[in-house]
Amino acid sequence: MYRAVKIEKIKEETPTIKTFFFKDNSEPEPGQFYMIWLPGVDEFPMSISYIGDEKAFTVKKIGKGTSAMHKLKEGDKLWIRGPYGRGFKIEDGYALIIGGGSGMATLAPLIERVKGDIIIAARTKEELLFLDRFKDRNVYIATDDGSAGFKGFATELAKEVMDRRDYSIIYTCGPEIMMKKIIDMAIEKGIKVQASLERLMKCGIGICDSCSINGYRVCVDGPVFSNKELAEMKDLGKYKRDSSGRRVPI
Ligand SMILES: Cc1cc2nc3c(=O)[nH]c(=O)nc-3n(C[C@H](O)[C@H](O)[C@H](O)COP(=O)(O)OP(=O)(O)OC[C@H]3O[C@@H](n4cnc5c(N)ncnc54)[C@H](O)[C@@H]3O)c2cc1C
Ligand code: FES
Repeated sequence: MYRAVKIEKIKEETPTIKTFFFKDNSEPEPGQFYMIWLPGVDEFPMSISYIGDEKAFTVKKIGKGTSAMHKLKEGDKLWIRGPYGRGFKIEDGYALIIGGGSGMATLAPLIERVKGDIIIAARTKEELLFLDRFKDRNVYIATDDGSAGFKGFATELAKEVMDRRDYSIIYTCGPEIMMKKIIDMAIEKGIKVQASLERLMKCGIGICDSCSINGYRVCVDGPVFSNKELAEMKDLGKYKRDSSGRRVPI
């Protein structure tokens, strides 16, 4: 089930985020994810951030597993299974794509396939992800501390940008509280929306139920969901499940 892939190249993107490039025969769609296993350490889900001959995971250092991954060197192995889940559905028209923090990793392969404006948001200038990669696109920047671009949250900038022109679809990935506000704004304006959700994943293939939210399993029914499904999720932006399965506030 697992296969080993060699890390061909590592790029430091921000002080806390690195991209790990590898080769693999799988053919993922934007928004799909893989389970990465580091033997003796942990197993965790990662979106595909580059699609094609050269694939990649773009990983933010959070805890045990991701910190161990940040210590790996070029030439080291990763054990992976996937691609899994339901990715983004590409819609016609002009999109607004809103990425918060490492959420840009999930959105990047989609951005390369759609027309539209991009909002890249982070706490500080140093944590803005993929500014270089999308330098030829129309990018709006927001930082919480005002060190670059709009001073404030992605949601406040999104409101201004959405007042300036009509968008046919909004795609988003980032902190759940940010996504919840954006989803509510989109639904209120009658705009289609797709959001990639994060829940604790153990099996990644629909068996263990650790990733469930209001009757949906994020690993197989998502991680990308759209209007009707998102509107039905009462726990969105409020509750998640911890490693023992308990429902806890976000
Ligand atoms: C479908 C999917 C795709 C993902 N894609 C990416 C990606 O492209 N890039 C990326 O950097 N991350 C991504 N993540 C998040 C990533 O899986 C987690 O950051 C990782 O599992 C943390 O593992 P760890 O062992 O380092 O931390 P742990 O030791 O498991 O946790 C350490 C601390 O971080 C908190 N934490 C754990 N998981 C998360 C989380 N998902 N969000 C916020 N806090 C968390 C825990 O509550 C704990 O306090 C994705 C998650 C999902 C579900
Ligand atoms: S992670 Fe096991 S059911 Fe989704």
